[in-house]
Amino acid sequence: ERANMALTFDRYKDRLRMLPKEKGWITGNLYMYQGFWHQTMRIISVETLMALQDTFKAHPTDIYLVTLPKSGTTWLKALVFAIVNRKRYTNGSLSTHPLLISNPHNCLPFIETEIYANTPTYVDTHSPRLFATHIPYTSLPQSIIESGCRLIYLCRNPKDVLVSMFHFANKLRDKSGSLVTFEEAFESFSKGAMPVGPYWDHVKGYHKVSTEHPGKVLFLTYEGMKVDTLNHVKRLAKFLDYPFTEEEEVEGAMQEIIRLCSFENLSEVNKHGNLREGIPNAAFFRKGEVGDWTNHLTNEMSQRLDRITKEKFHGLDISF
Ligand code: A3P
Repeated sequence: ERANMALTFDRYKDRLRMLPKEKGWITGNLYMYQGFWHQTMRIISVETLMALQDTFKAHPTDIYLVTLPKSGTTWLKALVFAIVNRKRYTNGSLSTHPLLISNPHNCLPFIETEIYANTPTYVDTHSPRLFATHIPYTSLPQSIIESGCRLIYLCRNPKDVLVSMFHFANKLRDKSGSLVTFEEAFESFSKGAMPVGPYWDHVKGYHKVSTEHPGKVLFLTYEGMKVDTLNHVKRLAKFLDYPFTEEEEVEGAMQEIIRLCSFENLSEVNKHGNLREGIPNAAFFRKGEVGDWTNHLTNEMSQRLDRITKEKFHGLDISF
């Protein structure tokens, strides 16, 4: 399988050599491709994206969860998986629910990693297929755009994304290599050089399509989900075409899903073990709070990011 992959990706080697580079947050380099910085991380690389653009086939019924890394991807995956599959695991008890024994990343795959799975996974046997991706809107495989399938975009305030990414990167870096200092992370983030950054361009791209096609693209924030999880679960279920019945509402089906997908539960389930890609399960759970940036950013840093955000968002008002 590895040999096949090497063959497949060989044809991108020349294109890769031409791309601008920056020091990576985790290992190796960030590569600038189609206006965004892509981090080589374990099995994922910019060649993965090129291969997806060349080969990925979307189905019109597919649903894609799109995020920048560290914006709440793991939580959103858990919620969507739990909502769509609730009839399969709720016959009396949730005791065999996959989210009680496995990482949400194993339940709902990234297309960036799915391209390595030669054998069809269970996602192929169900409709809708559920996938996640970090790919910027303008770089999505054409087939996703043309198929007219639905997207859910989750974003998070830039300062908490920076802080979360800083901790995540240092957890994943080679123990031998030097850690990224917060000042370095801040400088990189500010000039847009974070994995799948610039942050602002990623958010703007999806915000624009969500206003043009609100029935196709649902735009959510991590902060909104934290403040009113119940209503967000309800909205998600509706958008996914799996609305909760009145009976389910009375029985507390939504509350049950919220508990199952809570930071407390998921961080407990994922204390040990690794993902297939070698990332420790526990690395995806740190604090799960809004506003931890106040413990990391100086006033000056905070003001500088506010200025950049105001300038880059240019009137776009997202309430984090
Ligand atoms: P912090 O580092 O601020 O704690 P992603 O899933 O996109 O990689 O994002 C990871 C961030 O989401 C981390 O933020 C993590 O703690 C938080 N997170 C993970 N699971 C969560 C959950 N069930 N509820 C709320 N936040 C969660």
